[in-house]
Amino acid sequence: MSGHSDRKLPRHVGIIMDGNGRWAQARGLPRIEGHRVGSESVRDVVRAARQLGLEAITLYAFSSQNWARPVDEVSGLMDLLRDFLQSERSEILDNEIRLKAIGDAEKLPPSVKAPLDELCAASAHHRKMTLTLALSYGGRESIAKAVSTLAADVAAGNVRAADIDADRFGSYLPTADLPPLDLVIRTSGEQRVSNFLLWEIAYAELMFVDIAWPDFRRQQLYRCLENYATRERRFGLTSAQVIDEDV
Ligand code: IPE
Ligand code: IPE
Ligand code: MG
Repeated sequence: MSGHSDRKLPRHVGIIMDGNGRWAQARGLPRIEGHRVGSESVRDVVRAARQLGLEAITLYAFSSQNWARPVDEVSGLMDLLRDFLQSERSEILDNEIRLKAIGDAEKLPPSVKAPLDELCAASAHHRKMTLTLALSYGGRESIAKAVSTLAADVAAGNVRAADIDADRFGSYLPTADLPPLDLVIRTSGEQRVSNFLLWEIAYAELMFVDIAWPDFRRQQLYRCLENYATRERRFGLTSAQVIDEDV
């Protein structure tokens, strides 16, 4: 019985944390205020995920395309990231969370990159949960980079082109050390993926919730996980086959 309910808990949840700007604007506040309150949602949701025993949570914090936003908003977001890394340092270390970043970190300002690298290294041996920040991240960019590295391995004679299959290719992605992506939640009501984990999303359950990220807290996460537990994941099989496998 407990085995059954364990199986219904996703191992790896991805969240597209959207709607900060609209949340603020609806209250007559500057957009950055939405990002600030949104960072409190991050704290609460990460804490809840750790308590629930999720193996991995991946948060879409800043896309490759978000660099094109107004400079004030970008620098405000970078300041919030820097503050988050500082204020959550002890929480992450005390709770044996491994922090990981995916995306083009070279584009990040030193005020973010330095504490990010430091905390990723300091927590690299932790095994209770992996918190991945998708920062300066794009799914297409991530796939293109993997192709480039793989092509170099083929050219060097380390990999035969004929041996490339989905598993081999996946091992070149920065998410290769994470459990399969089970569930993707997007807040704010938009129903799109916006360049998040394109390869990894193949068989993930998708959930679009009509709540802006600053209002998404642990109770909303619990509701999403309850919904997830009711879904039948078939991975291309028939329902009868899936039920057979379950017993
Ligand atoms: C998500 O909120 C946070 C980032 C993309 C960094 P938005 O800033 O996209 O908020 P909306 O979608 O404009 O309301
Ligand atoms: C996706 O949200 C990126 C993050 C949540 C970090 P966006 O607000 O950038 O996506 P679009 O522009 O609505 O597709
Ligand atoms: Mg948005």
